[in-house]
Formats: sequence, structure tokens, C-alpha cells
Amino acid sequence: MRLDRYLAEMNAGTRSELKKRIRKGEVTVNGVCIRDADHQVEEEDIVTLGGEEIAYHRYEYYLLHKPAGYVCTLDRSLQVTELIPEARKDVMPVGRLDKDTEGLLLLTNDGQLAHKLISPRNHVEKLYYAETDLPIPEAAIEAFAEGLELEDFKAMPAKLQIPEERKAFLTICEGKYHQVRRMFAKMGCEVLYLRRERFDFLDLSGVPCGEHRLLNEEEVALLKKHCEKTTD
Ligand code: URA
Repeated sequence: MRLDRYLAEMNAGTRSELKKRIRKGEVTVNGVCIRDADHQVEEEDIVTLGGEEIAYHRYEYYLLHKPAGYVCTLDRSLQVTELIPEARKDVMPVGRLDKDTEGLLLLTNDGQLAHKLISPRNHVEKLYYAETDLPIPEAAIEAFAEGLELEDFKAMPAKLQIPEERKAFLTICEGKYHQVRRMFAKMGCEVLYLRRERFDFLDLSGVPCGEHRLLNEEEVALLKKHCEKTTD
């Protein structure tokens, strides 16, 4: 790929800024100063900008503690991606959380893994904490475990715990539009607060609301392993 593209993809600056810096002699490839933005580089090459090495990585995997008020879609402002300014431009949320929902959101530009993680066929568990307007009926535990009929689909069996009458932990393996809110609505309760606590084995430990971290290699490998069943 072109040298300026390599650097731009690694978020080292805009294409025009980078072209100028390359022309000024601020960039080396494998120890040699290169002043031509068109110079072809490979992912394995050692590239430095202003003396600092810029390593190439094709895929990025982030764990974000999403605050309320941010959307996972691309068509509106206050997008979750704005909370990770250093991310590659092609990094996208894995599935969606509603604007008002807080909690754990994965983001990546590895489309294949993202697709597998959100496929219900892989049974990747997501744990939610919810607070409701009214006491949650005990009958919801069995109803959720059996698989709740919603207007447009039958939810897969889900595990509900009710530690306090208006507080609940719900584990589901799919992520249809407004699913958690709709499941509680079916039981006569409105969800007033919703937070995703866990996505598979990943939780929010050490990541305060609004902050993010990169997943490490072992975590990415484990996520991939848990999706091995899906072939599509
Ligand atoms: N279910 C919902 O209703 N909302 C979310 O944001 C996530 C799951």
C-alpha cells in the first residue's frame, strides 16, 4: 500500500498532513528516509514518523463503557465512535445499544468476527442490569426461561434474576431491537435504567463510564474461539 495510506490508516494524521510530513523528510521505512508518499510499503515494514514507530495492525478491538446519550448508528450526532478518537475510521460497534443504555460495547473493524458475535446461533451471552418502574412479577422468571413471544419473534430462553423487586439481571443470547425493554414491557414493567454488564466473558472492570480499552490478544482469541460454530 502507499506510504501515506499506511500512516493515515494508523490515524497518524490526515492524508494531506502526512504527504507534507513525508515530503519534509519526517518519515523512514526500514531505516531509510522516504520523501515519496507513493512509496509502496508492506504491513511488516518498520515505519517511523517524527522518530516514533508507527506499527501497522489491520484489526482493532475496543471495549467501551458506553454512557447514555450516545448512539451506535452512523446517521446521527454523538456517535459512540466519537468516544474513541484514536480508532481507525472503519471501527464500528458490534451490535447496538440504545441511546439511553449504558454499558459494555465492543467495537471493531473485524467485520467477520463482529458478524459472528451478534449471530444468535453462537449463543454469546450478554448480561444486563435493569431497573424498572414497577415491581417485576416472579412469573417473569419462568416466562423468560421458556422463551417469550414478542410481536415479531419468539425470544430465546433467557435467565432472569430479581435481587430486588424493581431491579433485575437478565442474560440473553441474542440482541433484537429493544429486546430487553420489550421483554420487560411484556411483563408490564417499563425499564427506566439499563446497563450491559457483560458480553461473553468480558466485563466492565477497570473501565469507568465513558472510557475504553483495547482488548488484548488472548481476549480476541477467546472471542474467536467462542464463535467457531458459525460458518456463515
Ligand atoms: N435491549 C434493549 O432494549 N436495549 C439495549 O440497548 C440493549 C438490549
